[in-house]
Amino acid sequence: MFVTPQYNWGYPAALKNAIDHLYREWADKPAVIVSYGGHGGGKCGAQLREVLAGLKLRTVATCPELTLPRTLIEANTGEIDAIEVFATHVDTVREALAELATALAA
Ligand SMILES: Cc1cc2nc3c(=O)[nH]c(=O)nc-3n(C[C@H](O)[C@H](O)[C@H](O)COP(=O)(O)O)c2cc1C
Repeated sequence: MFVTPQYNWGYPAALKNAIDHLYREWADKPAVIVSYGGHGGGKCGAQLREVLAGLKLRTVATCPELTLPRTLIEANTGEIDAIEVFATHVDTVREALAELATALAA
């Protein structure tokens, strides 16, 4: 499972660096992309999906895009109540994990 924040429409360089180091171990495995950000991070999720496809990872169809309120981002406390903040995303996360389980069982 790849979890990434979106910064200026992209995913962090540190994540790309990790992928570049570990791609042999991950090839042909199923993956889920979870992005988060003020707008959910869908743009960096799409970029990441393309890179993972190039490395022969099989990303499941559902990619949860978790939105964080601007007030929380600006407060930058490093702590959030995930159950409350991400409550509206629970069904999507469950769907993604169900797809991952199916892909792993295949
Ligand atoms: C420089 C900067 C750029 C950002 N760009 C985006 C963006 O393009 N899309 C988005 O949804 N959130 C954006 N955000 C919000 C980040 O995703 C936000 O900081 C993050 O969700 C909070 O988690 P963090 O503490 O891991 O940074 C940006 C934040 C910063 C500081």
